[in-house]
Amino acid sequence: MAIKFYEENGQFHLYNEEISYIFKILKNGQLGHLYYGKRLTDIPDYGHLVEESRRDMAACPTEEDNFFSLESARQEYPTYSNGDVRYGAYEILWENGSSITEFVYKSHRIYDGKESLSGLPATYVEDSKEAETLEIVLQDKKEDVRIVLSYTIFRDYPVITKNVRFINDSSKKITLLSAMTSCVDFPDKEFVMVDLAGAWSRERNIREHKLDYGVQSVHSMRGCSSHQFNPFLALKREHTDEFQGEIYGFSFVYSGNFLAQVEVDDYDVTRVLLGIHPNGFHWELGRGEEFQTPEAVLAYSDQGMNRMSQVYHELYRTRLARGVWRDKVRPILINNWEATYFDFNEEKILAIAEVAKRIGVELFVLDDGWFGKRDDSTSSLGDWYPHLGKLPNGVKGLADKIRKLGLEFGIWIEPESVNRDSDLYRNHPDWVMGDIQRNISQSRNQLLLDFSKKEVVDYIYHMLETLFDEVPISYVKWDMNRNMAEVFSNGNDAAYQGKVRHKYILGVYDLYDRLTSKYPNILFESCASGGARFDPGILYYAPQGWTSDNTDAIDRLKIQYGTSIVYPISCIGSHVSAAPNHQTFRNTSLQTRANVAYFGTFGYELDVTQMTEEELEEMKEQVLFMKKYRELIQKGVFYRLKSPFEGNETAWMVVSKDEKEALVGFYRVLQPSNAPLSRVKLKGLEEDVKYSVNGKTEHFGDELMQIGIITSDYAAGVWKEGREGQGDYMSKLYHLKAVE
Ligand code: GLA
Repeated sequence: MAIKFYEENGQFHLYNEEISYIFKILKNGQLGHLYYGKRLTDIPDYGHLVEESRRDMAACPTEEDNFFSLESARQEYPTYSNGDVRYGAYEILWENGSSITEFVYKSHRIYDGKESLSGLPATYVEDSKEAETLEIVLQDKKEDVRIVLSYTIFRDYPVITKNVRFINDSSKKITLLSAMTSCVDFPDKEFVMVDLAGAWSRERNIREHKLDYGVQSVHSMRGCSSHQFNPFLALKREHTDEFQGEIYGFSFVYSGNFLAQVEVDDYDVTRVLLGIHPNGFHWELGRGEEFQTPEAVLAYSDQGMNRMSQVYHELYRTRLARGVWRDKVRPILINNWEATYFDFNEEKILAIAEVAKRIGVELFVLDDGWFGKRDDSTSSLGDWYPHLGKLPNGVKGLADKIRKLGLEFGIWIEPESVNRDSDLYRNHPDWVMGDIQRNISQSRNQLLLDFSKKEVVDYIYHMLETLFDEVPISYVKWDMNRNMAEVFSNGNDAAYQGKVRHKYILGVYDLYDRLTSKYPNILFESCASGGARFDPGILYYAPQGWTSDNTDAIDRLKIQYGTSIVYPISCIGSHVSAAPNHQTFRNTSLQTRANVAYFGTFGYELDVTQMTEEELEEMKEQVLFMKKYRELIQKGVFYRLKSPFEGNETAWMVVSKDEKEALVGFYRVLQPSNAPLSRVKLKGLEEDVKYSVNGKTEHFGDELMQIGIITSDYAAGVWKEGREGQGDYMSKLYHLKAVE
């Protein structure tokens, strides 16, 4: 790994064993992008890659040189100015109404390691030798304003991270109308764009389309990263698949409004922008003030999508997620939401907990409905003290009893929301987001609190502190159940309003930071109506997240498979719920529900008091199974083998780091009749090592990878043999262990 600067040519080359990222100072002092991709030989001058050709109507910075135009040159951190007519990475509005800028290279520094970002989540290193960072200062020619571009290259990952700071040293106010984090200009457009799209209950489905001229993007303007799109996109070559070919990933460590945009221009240059969505964003900077963008994480693979995902998994699991729970195996939990919804009391909860304990569950999570006067969704958000009607001994009384049973105790909160019917709202009606002189839309009967205000965050922090200090809590499910609608901060001036969306997220991060620092042993799980805020920003504070409110095993195949494009399975919250399923009304076997949920954090979300003894026995076995393999599942290398988006069958597997053990999940949605045998070729094994498969047969790794295992054998009809394991929604697991 190195970051080289060739002064004579003004060229920067960041490289490690796998990737190169190269740019240079152009003739006019701005930065031009030269290359990003598979590692190139380090030579002092790749300047010939700067495109200089005479184009009609192109604006050139100088009269003498008609060949050099920013319209066709590839840029490193462009704006709409100086001839570049594409969407820019930033826009600054000066006091005189102009947004013309001339930011040129001023200085740079290179250092070992990586610094943290103030108030924002970011990847980190544990040893300064793991990464190297380059900071480049750009200075406007007229005004005393600087832009600091920061790039980190990791030693062990094909990854570059970026962030940007704007510093106003002038005596005038400036306004940032856009401040994206990353721009990459690729020299061609032969790419397929991959993104993760969906809706509530069908989050992060994989979508692909070939790039076309003009702009194509994914975004959120909802105040959270959203169910609809994830702050991620990738560009892959047309023939790239899971195991071969080039792919470039762009992931944004942020939980609010984002824009990930691809623009293909008339010369086939492909510009990828990633950052905070400029819509509604205008950030005024007074003298001496700075603005820090969130971090972008760029990962490159020339071995297909799986490898890109594995890079994100390992980086995010070990160098983004933090705290004591980062490396600890996660508790097997039971959550009462789908078991009781709002309709519970202490007795009912204890009855569930007792049965859960019997089958080996480790943690009980009390979901929505335990506070204020909350019997349905119309009241009490904001009143984080016990509902004594349901819990006469308080939450503490219940938690003590649950702990006596031998279970840990966890609790649901939704700190960012308030109901109009709450003491909090009655006392502070101006703390809500939205103009209180106008109508404010409700969603699920609730309003958002204005987390851009410090006093609001402080108040909620102190209320939760009281709760956490009193009750022995080991887990928190932090939910957030609505989009922003009317964005306005009451009592603040006009300039403040353009900051509200971002400041809100900074308020969320601040509360997370304070709670995780004061209560380092609590395991936080994020949630937002299922997976509406399942993003790398939240992962920094909460090492696991509720993936979707849809707990149906068959729908989960797509949701979890799509989620695994970026996110490690150690953070994928997955529970076994009731049949018929509460979202799809589908009946699947207890076995299939567990076989899907194992590839995540695993837990139950159903009324165990209603299960038969036979079912409870089966669940006992499931819990034992998960306890045995959770370390492998959480820390192993995850491979997607067969996509639910492409057919009737899904398969995935985890392999231990030492390649001695693996677990394969195979799922078939509908039972075909008289079908060919189906085989799954495994990955990540050692060719010349013999593995036992489910303790029954033994095969060398090369056979398992080259020929595969037969996953669905044919059954001829009910009166013949071989009915076992047949039928719709069938699933199987294969445990592989190297034979000594
Ligand atoms: C959201 C969550 C659910 C549950 C409910 C409670 O929808 O995603 O898991 O906690 O809220 O109201």
